[in-house]
Amino acid sequence: MMLQALIFDLDGVITDTAHLHFIAWRSVAAELGIQIDEEVNQSLKGISRMASLERILQVGGKTELFSETEKLAIAARKNERYVELLSSLGPASILPGIAPLLDELKSRGVGIGLASASLNAPGILQALGLAALFDYCADASRIAHSKPDPEIFLAACAGLGATPQRCIGVEDAQAGIAAINASGMVSIGIGATLSDANLRLNSTEELTWRRIAGLMDLTDTATSVRR
Ligand code: G6P
Ligand code: MG
Repeated sequence: MMLQALIFDLDGVITDTAHLHFIAWRSVAAELGIQIDEEVNQSLKGISRMASLERILQVGGKTELFSETEKLAIAARKNERYVELLSSLGPASILPGIAPLLDELKSRGVGIGLASASLNAPGILQALGLAALFDYCADASRIAHSKPDPEIFLAACAGLGATPQRCIGVEDAQAGIAAINASGMVSIGIGATLSDANLRLNSTEELTWRRIAGLMDLTDTATSVRR
């Protein structure tokens, strides 16, 4: 397979903001009388801001208590705190192996795209010093169906002018792997508990050009090997 582009998820693949989302949600949830733990936080991975709030209200048994306007205000409050926490991000926050891989992709002329549900994605790439390396970032505010729907990955392919079958998607969430697979792209999963990815790695450190080239050779002969 002739590789046109790699399309990355952001949180948990390029940088680890899950903990910052957790701190912000935990303080907002506590004000609503809801305690959330690390397990709840795991279930918010890859899920949009409003869907995360719905999940938290569900955990606290408070789904019916707030109007849409109130929910928007709660989500805005969470985001204010999250954005404050993002000021701690810098190039040192890039996950291991990602910066050298992006350089390698650039030098090989492979397109680089972003498919993140985060409305803060452009600001985060800027803070990490990576914004200029990305050829196209899908605009999360224009996506109607969140992962596991393939919409955001297909939008990234379209923006890059690439064919999904010639692109690889990288994700750390199960819903993200499902989205990549449904888009027709080849999937790489980062994390011990993921299933159904064409290639599953334990950490971003293992995400090297060598592994990617190997995966390309493999998909030449059998596109459907998913483990
Ligand atoms: C990513 C994260 C989610 C987060 C979502 C929206 O997908 O994994 O945990 O809820 O982005 O982020 P935002 O910055 O728009 O609130
Ligand atoms: Mg993620």
